[in-house]
Amino acid sequence: MKIRFAKPEDVKAIQGLVDVFYFAYTTPLLKTIKRKRVLVTQKGNKIIGVVIYGLKEKKVNVIVINEDYRGKGLGKKLLKKSFEIFKVKKMKIMATEDPTNSVPFWKKMGFYPLPKVIKTKRGNKLRPMIYIKED
Ligand SMILES: CC(C)(COP(=O)(O)OP(=O)(O)OC[C@H]1O[C@@H](n2cnc3c(N)ncnc32)[C@H](O)[C@@H]1OP(=O)(O)O)[C@@H](O)C(=O)NCCC(=O)NCCS
Repeated sequence: MKIRFAKPEDVKAIQGLVDVFYFAYTTPLLKTIKRKRVLVTQKGNKIIGVVIYGLKEKKVNVIVINEDYRGKGLGKKLLKKSFEIFKVKKMKIMATEDPTNSVPFWKKMGFYPLPKVIKTKRGNKLRPMIYIKED
């Protein structure tokens, strides 16, 4: 298992992973990969996890672990590694509440929910959450 920057040839595998969770993200994936804003978790030849950062801000757009590998600590590892690489001290994310509920995961990662829910054009519910690194 290794975590590395995504390469242009990973685009299809990444799109397969982010699929329904990619709704809030509009900048082309390839461009984001080339700007080194995408990290993947690789097992053998397979990409089983991805985290995509925003281009301008240091902001997580989406993190997804392949369904078969969830609940094994891989999401946490990937996020922590990305925080190290991008030197994250403060961050706001839009956590999905629907179709999947990622709020418990983000809480475990030290994020605090804000008391409002945003509905996207596609009808997905997003919960803004804030993280501030403790010294
Ligand atoms: C959210 C997601 C990335 C988490 O990755 P994961 O590998 O399953 O999570 P981990 O195993 O690393 O869990 C890290 C911690 O969060 C907790 N956690 C994760 N999901 C949880 C849930 N649904 N309910 C309660 N706790 C949860 C784990 O118990 C673990 O706690 P610990 O550190 O005390 O052991 C993954 O479940 C996923 O891909 N979900 C679908 C896509 C999605 O919703 N992404 C978020 C979009 S913003």
